[in-house]
Amino acid sequence: MVVGMRISGDELSPFGLTQPDIIEICAALDKYDLLDYYNVIAGASSTLGSAVHNIPPMAIEHGYTVPYAAAIKARVRKPVFVAGRINQPQIAEQVLTAGHADMIGMTRALISDPEMPNKARTGRTDDIRACIGCNQACAGHMHAGYSISCIQHPETGRELTHANKPKVSQRRRILIAGGGPAGLKAAAVAAERGHDVTLYERGQQLGGQVLLAQLLPGRAEFGGLITNLAHEARQSGAKVVTNTAVTSDLIRTENPDAVILATGARPHVPEIPGIEDAHVANVWQILRGEVNAGRSVVVADWRSDWIGLGIAEKLAREGRHVRLCVNANMAGQNLQSYVRDHWLGIVHSLGVEIIPMARLAGVDADTVYFEHLANNTPFECRDVETLVLAMGHESETRIEESLTEYAGEIIPIGDCAAPRTAEEAVLDGLNAGLRV
Ligand SMILES: Cc1cc2nc3c(=O)[nH]c(=O)nc-3n(C[C@H](O)[C@H](O)[C@H](O)COP(=O)(O)O)c2cc1C
Ligand code: SF4
Repeated sequence: MVVGMRISGDELSPFGLTQPDIIEICAALDKYDLLDYYNVIAGASSTLGSAVHNIPPMAIEHGYTVPYAAAIKARVRKPVFVAGRINQPQIAEQVLTAGHADMIGMTRALISDPEMPNKARTGRTDDIRACIGCNQACAGHMHAGYSISCIQHPETGRELTHANKPKVSQRRRILIAGGGPAGLKAAAVAAERGHDVTLYERGQQLGGQVLLAQLLPGRAEFGGLITNLAHEARQSGAKVVTNTAVTSDLIRTENPDAVILATGARPHVPEIPGIEDAHVANVWQILRGEVNAGRSVVVADWRSDWIGLGIAEKLAREGRHVRLCVNANMAGQNLQSYVRDHWLGIVHSLGVEIIPMARLAGVDADTVYFEHLANNTPFECRDVETLVLAMGHESETRIEESLTEYAGEIIPIGDCAAPRTAEEAVLDGLNAGLRV
């Protein structure tokens, strides 16, 4: 029987074992020949900060555990494995070639693309759907108590119901409006099943809201979602047309058998007393560089997710004083805990003040007014130059409303059906691609 041990190369906690401790422990175990291998990661479950390394999020660099494995390997005779943000075979190959480890563990890489080893073996590395380290549907689902999946590949965990994509007996012409995550997944699946699929994106670039999400600090890898889905859509044979808005005229001319609407959402701007007297911007405007924030900023965060924390980090890094007021018990409440806890540490270091349980009630030229969620007690943030709204989204339904004459099937998916996250958008796309 082969018996190995998973061990942390450094617990990365002020109360935990350090790298020198662990090297000595492994060297001692090795002396007694007790183990057949050492499987090296980082962190420990004992503190919130060190637990982040159990399943490190995208803000942590690829292969950062390799030096810990290499240091242990230098002191033991038995094979050393390493895991942690190694998401591509090219990185794995480099680690092995450099002699830093003898074997690579790749967990999320296989949740994201179960075919990854076969694709690597047969030289199809461009086809690999690389894990982007978002932790949403793998770690996020596990901690929420339901079966793991992947936001990029919702077939994972739904193998019995969604993995089989039966070929169609009758090829239909499917028109898809919108090249974000929902539209691209629907295009990939419908085309794979044999339909004649054309996806129209009104912008120059595919991606929808992912184009903005990837601009938040530490979130650049999120753009990989679109790289992967666009590749899958094209590979399946879907035609992808950019710079073309879908209109009722276009639908009349094309006359498809079914229209899948994946037109996304726009920022929700609630009715806020005093808004006309204040400098107010939404997160999209800030990320697109359309509006400059002042020196002192309040972010009103209704969703308590990536957007509020990300915009607070960005504005604080630009040297502004940032107060992040969240309509929740804590900032990032709706995020997977490792993603959230790591991010809370970063914004704390940058001096962002977090004010929880805050319901936005009003604004004027230099003050933002809130009510406490628990008892409605009013409170205010003074000396504010800019109020930044992260207040969720509204479905973009204008095309749907204009299709009064179209007699074929219309399927709204993603945020244009109901604003949620990229995870639900991709799952909606899969369901629509299987349904048409
Ligand atoms: C859903 C999920 C469950 C996991 N459960 C365990 C576990 O029970 N024990 C463990 O040592 N690591 C567990 N891990 C951590 C992985 O083994 C691995 O160390 C970590 O995900 C980093 O590697 P990766 O970047 O290749 O995913 C889990 C990871 C995921 C995504
Ligand atoms: S949900 Fe995100 S982190 Fe998890 S396997 Fe998929 S891409 Fe990777």
